[in-house]
Amino acid sequence: MRVRLILMTEAFVDRPSHRFSVAPMMDWTDRWCRRFHRLLTRRALLYTEMVHANAVLYGDRRHLLGFDSQEHPVALQLGGSDPRVLAEAARIGADFGYDEINLNVGCPSERVQSGAFGACLMATPDTVAECVEAMAKVVSVPVTVKHRIGIDEQDSEADLHRFVARVADAGCKTFIVHARKAWLKGLSPAANREVPPLDYPRVYRLKQEFGHLNIVINGGIDGTEAGLPHLQEVDGVMLGRAAYHRPFELGRVDRLYYGVERDDPGYAEIIDDLVALAEEVCSRDVPLYRLTRHALGLFHGAPGARHWRRVLTEGAYRKEAGPELIEWAVRPCLQAVS
Ligand SMILES: Cc1cc2nc3c(=O)[nH]c(=O)nc-3n(C[C@H](O)[C@H](O)[C@H](O)COP(=O)(O)O)c2cc1C
Repeated sequence: MRVRLILMTEAFVDRPSHRFSVAPMMDWTDRWCRRFHRLLTRRALLYTEMVHANAVLYGDRRHLLGFDSQEHPVALQLGGSDPRVLAEAARIGADFGYDEINLNVGCPSERVQSGAFGACLMATPDTVAECVEAMAKVVSVPVTVKHRIGIDEQDSEADLHRFVARVADAGCKTFIVHARKAWLKGLSPAANREVPPLDYPRVYRLKQEFGHLNIVINGGIDGTEAGLPHLQEVDGVMLGRAAYHRPFELGRVDRLYYGVERDDPGYAEIIDDLVALAEEVCSRDVPLYRLTRHALGLFHGAPGARHWRRVLTEGAYRKEAGPELIEWAVRPCLQAVS
């Protein structure tokens, strides 16, 4: 009875909540990053890195899609533009147990453009709609879209509304909007996350226009507290770089965003959990750095941060590195904050 009660209150109910999520980030939000983030927040929705639908069909699925049950709620982000291939990849992802399938319509990299997916799909809302429709037909979990407010010269508010209206018609109810346009030529993906100006009011107006849709805002939100005011205007907040570089802040998410009444986890508690996770990593013959590289920012701005980063950066790549490295790395940090 007690277990059931905990399950009902702790687990998300029916559908994943988008009130707070950590963005999909290539090379960053792998399964060990997500396990680490899950030590800090039980409620945030976590996203995978983008996986191309063809890779899901023809690649090593266990490697590409495998995840641990502790990661729930967790969404799989797919890349692609062929409705048939995306539908099959979505079905496979849902069978793996993902709580949501998300389509990437925001990545501007040259490689992605040459594959005709990512942000360039904003120019063809009909294609995105066909993809969403095909995916939604074969899975029972939500199919969502992450996109920009525009691309190149096609960046008027009317273009954005047309895009959302068309894709919503195809069955998408949740739109995660990176609040800046993307330039498809001349800017690198990194520059495309900095140079085009942020336009939060445009995302707010999208919510005003499409009140029945779940609109999540993303882009340049500099921390968990900074995200809160956006909830006056939209349904959810997605953090990317700030969450990755300052993960300690994720410890506040369950209280700030979900009203969970418990103390935020402190450093000592997080380290105990991280050491236990490191034991699991090592027992599965996974090199320790695959976990610790995601935790380098844990003590950002706190005493001992440099020691923590240095010991982990230098030590975790050694073959014999084990969980005790974390205890060694953290010593001056915990002494300073206790
Ligand atoms: C290293 C890195 C990799 C990224 N990879 C993806 C990706 O695979 N899929 C995606 O939709 N966005 C990707 N993004 C964009 C983020 O999801 C997010 O939209 C962007 O960083 C803006 O949010 P932020 O300012 O909170 O970081 C990536 C961003 C970074 C920094």
